[in-house]
Amino acid sequence: MQIAVFGLGYVGAVTASCFAAEGHRVVGVDTDAYKVQCIMEGRSPIVERDLEQYIRRAREAGRLVATTCADEAVAQSDIALICVGTPSRRNGSLNLEFVERVCRQIGAALAGREQPYIVVVRSTVLPGTCEGLVIPTLEKASGRRHGEGFHVCMNPEFLREGTAIHDFHHPPLTVIGSQSSEAADRVAELYAGIPAECVKTDLRTAEIVKYANNAFHALKITFANEIGAWCKQEGVDSHVVMRLLTMDTKLNISPAYLTPGFAFGGSCLPKDLRALVYRAHQHDLTLPTLESILVSNRLQIERTVDLIVQLGKKRVGVVGLAFKAGTDDLRESPVVTLCEHLIGKGYSLRIYDPNVSLAAIYGSNKAYIEREIPHIHALMCDSLEQLIDESDVVVLANRDDRVTQLADRYRDDQIVIDLARCISPEAIRGRYIGLYW
Ligand SMILES: NC(=O)c1ccc[n+]([C@@H]2O[C@H](COP(=O)([O-])OP(=O)(O)OC[C@H]3O[C@@H](n4cnc5c(N)ncnc54)[C@H](O)[C@@H]3O)[C@@H](O)[C@H]2O)c1
Repeated sequence: MQIAVFGLGYVGAVTASCFAAEGHRVVGVDTDAYKVQCIMEGRSPIVERDLEQYIRRAREAGRLVATTCADEAVAQSDIALICVGTPSRRNGSLNLEFVERVCRQIGAALAGREQPYIVVVRSTVLPGTCEGLVIPTLEKASGRRHGEGFHVCMNPEFLREGTAIHDFHHPPLTVIGSQSSEAADRVAELYAGIPAECVKTDLRTAEIVKYANNAFHALKITFANEIGAWCKQEGVDSHVVMRLLTMDTKLNISPAYLTPGFAFGGSCLPKDLRALVYRAHQHDLTLPTLESILVSNRLQIERTVDLIVQLGKKRVGVVGLAFKAGTDDLRESPVVTLCEHLIGKGYSLRIYDPNVSLAAIYGSNKAYIEREIPHIHALMCDSLEQLIDESDVVVLANRDDRVTQLADRYRDDQIVIDLARCISPEAIRGRYIGLYW
C-alpha cells in the first residue's frame, strides 16, 4: 500500500520505517524540518534500538521518503496514519490541537481527490474524538462527507519505547475501530504480515481500550511497588512474593476479576485489605492505591443506590443477597449493604436468594442471619416469581439461571437493573439498565 505517516516522533518514525520494511511505500510527514531531513538522510530522528538501521534500509530500498508538505503526502498515498502528539495541558486535559491541525491539512488535500482515502488515527485520543473532532474537521476541510470518499479508522498503538521495533512486529493484538467494515478490512491488510490477532470494533471502543491498557499498566506497577514497600518493612523479598503471585495464572494473571460489575465483598477481601492497610500504618507506611480500594468499593454501592433513587419507584426487588452467586455467605455482602441503604430510604423491598433462604432454615449461616440481619431476612420472598410480580424495579445482583428462565414474566412497565450482566436487554420486556454496559 501507499502510506502517509503524519508525525515522525517515537510512534511515527517506528511505524513509517517498519511498514516500509514490510514492503509498503511510505511517505512520512512532519512539521519539524529536522526530523524530515533525518529520515531523508537515513538517520533516526529519535533514540530507539535498531531504528536507524530500519530507516537506512527503507531509504536504500526506495520505500521511504519524508516531507513537510501534507498535500504532497496525501497525493502519494491511499491511507494516512495520524501519529502526532496528544500531550497534556497544564490542567491535565488532553491537547488535541495537533490532531485537529493535521485533520485540517489532510482534509484540504482531499478536497479535489477522486480516489477513496482512509484516515487512521494512531495517536492516543479520548473516546468520541474520532466522531466529535476528526470526522467533522476532515468533512469541513474537504467539503466531502465521511463514508463518501473517505473513511476514518482508529488503530491504537501499543508499542513501548526502547523495544518499539520488536513490539511493532510482535504486538499483543491489533485493534481497528471503524464505522465501515470495508475500511477496517483495508487497514487490517496493512498488518497481514504481523502474527497477532486483529480485532475489529467500533471507534469508541478502539479509542478507550488504549486508556484502559495504560491505566492497567500504571496500576500494575503501583500495586507491585506498594506490595514491595510493605514487604520490605516485613523483611520479605518482594520479588519472590511477586514471582509466586504471577505463578497463579488462574486467579491472578488471568481474565478473572476483570469483569466490571457490582462491588466485591465476602469474608476475605475486605477483611484482609483492612488488616494489610492497618499493618502498613503501624510501619508508618502510606499505601494510597491499596488504601483506596475499599473506598472505591463503597462508592460502587452508593452509585447503585443513586441509580435506584433516580428512577423514582418505590417497590424494589433484589435478586441475590450473598456476596456472590452459589454461596449462602452473607458476611460483608455488598448486596446486604445495598438493601440496608434502601430500607433506610423507605423503599418497599423484596429479596430473593434461594441459597440464603435454605441457609436460614438449616444452614451454617442460620445464626448469622437471625442475629445480624433479621430485618433483611424478614423481607425475603419464597419465589422469584413473587419478587418479579411485586416489584417495579428488579435489581439482579447475582447470576442466577432462574432469572433468564423467567424472562417472560417481566412486565412492560418494569425496570431491570443488572449488576452482574445476568440477562440480555432483548430477553425482557420493560426497561433494561446495565450497571457498566
Ligand atoms: N511514545 C510512545 O511510546 C507511544 C506509544 C503508544 C502511543 N503513543 C501515542 O502516540 C502519539 C504520538 O506519540 P509520540 O511519542 O510519537 O509523539 P512525539 O511528540 O514524539 O511526536 C509527534 C510528532 O508529530 C509532529 N507533528 C505535530 N503536528 C504535526 C502536523 N500537523 N503534521 C505532521 N507532523 C506533526 C511533531 O513535530 C512530532 O515530531 C501520542 O498520542 C501518544 O500518546 C505514544
